[in-house]
Amino acid sequence: MIVREATAEDVDAVVALRIESERWLHAAGIRQWTDRERGIRIIRDRIAVGGMYLVIDEDGTAIASLTLSGPDPDFWDSRDEPDSALYLYKLMITERYRGTGLGDELLDWACEQAEARGKRWLRLDCWRDNQGLQRYYLRRGFEHVRTMVVEGRDSGALFQRPATIRTATSRYLSTRNAPC
Ligand SMILES: CC(C)(COP(=O)(O)OP(=O)(O)OC[C@H]1O[C@@H](n2cnc3c(N)ncnc32)[C@H](O)[C@@H]1OP(=O)(O)O)[C@@H](O)C(=O)NCCC(=O)NCCS
Repeated sequence: MIVREATAEDVDAVVALRIESERWLHAAGIRQWTDRERGIRIIRDRIAVGGMYLVIDEDGTAIASLTLSGPDPDFWDSRDEPDSALYLYKLMITERYRGTGLGDELLDWACEQAEARGKRWLRLDCWRDNQGLQRYYLRRGFEHVRTMVVEGRDSGALFQRPATIRTATSRYLSTRNAPC
């Protein structure tokens, strides 16, 4: 499998991943990603400016995606030295590949990207009331920075992991995925 940057031709594939995730979240009774239109708008905008990456399997199918970008100014401020980190958003894996270790590899890959850009941290924000998701990141070497309540935002639980950390044991991603 390889990781490559998404282009305008990939919008439908990423939207399909998003809709699949929404359905899984809804079926699991998890309140997250409830505004589909906003989600699709963010996907289109992000692909247009760059920074969204896809995992492509041997059949050429997009099976996962993530965004690497700058800090969300609603959450990260001068006390965090925002430039010291790369920021992860919208990590999604199709159900067939969840629980296989691919998620760990993608977090390692994101850390590699952070290191390659001279950053000390990989950071993210996630939904404040989603304890399950927060446990997911804590188990993978992230530390809780703080939880912020910002009007109009459901996210606000802030996490970071040193960019030097690696946890994956599986080997789905090709070694050809050198830092971009
Ligand atoms: C998050 C994700 C990429 C992780 O993939 P993965 O590394 O293969 O890990 P798994 O899917 O096996 O999930 C590990 C655990 O986290 C839980 N989990 C995953 N996403 C979760 C979520 N959004 N909310 C609550 N729990 C979640 C799983 O139920 C599982 O719990 P278990 O160990 O009790 O069975 C994948 O679960 C996914 O695509 N989720 C939907 C989209 C999403 O919520 N992305 C995070 C955006 S910040």
